[in-house]
Amino acid sequence: MIILVLNGPNINMLGIREPGVYGTESFSDLLALLERTAAEEGIEIVQFQSNHEGVLVDKIQEAFGVFDGIVINPAAYTHTSIAILDALKAVNIPAVEVHISDVKSREAFRQVSYAGMACCKTIMGKGIEGYREAILYLKEYCHA
Ligand code: DQA
Repeated sequence: MIILVLNGPNINMLGIREPGVYGTESFSDLLALLERTAAEEGIEIVQFQSNHEGVLVDKIQEAFGVFDGIVINPAAYTHTSIAILDALKAVNIPAVEVHISDVKSREAFRQVSYAGMACCKTIMGKGIEGYREAILYLKEYCHA
């Protein structure tokens, strides 16, 4: 099984950006968690982060026929990007949405998730551990 973990804008700033909201664990900590999870679960995980909407759309399109599942944290594009929603629907790969913070208890403008409309599950408010949970869910969901 091979899973693509896609991260949107500013996720590379984890540990530095608003630690009161996103915690003190760094982006490197997230990458290490993904590596550990891949080794423990015997699956392949490819991580990609971009600050650019179109690049994220390209990566989703390129995942077609290659990846069995997608874990996506579109970050701010969650709340604005119909292009990312359409790309997820186009490739029709099982996808899980992850948010590090508890988006539901935040500002009104964060209450819509376009990407989430194409995802079979949403995990939020669990810090970087949410990515591990999303991967385990996809592993179960895909019966790999
Ligand atoms: C986020 C939540 C978004 O609202 C925000 O724009 C982010 C990160 C999260 O992981 O909690 O950049 O997706």
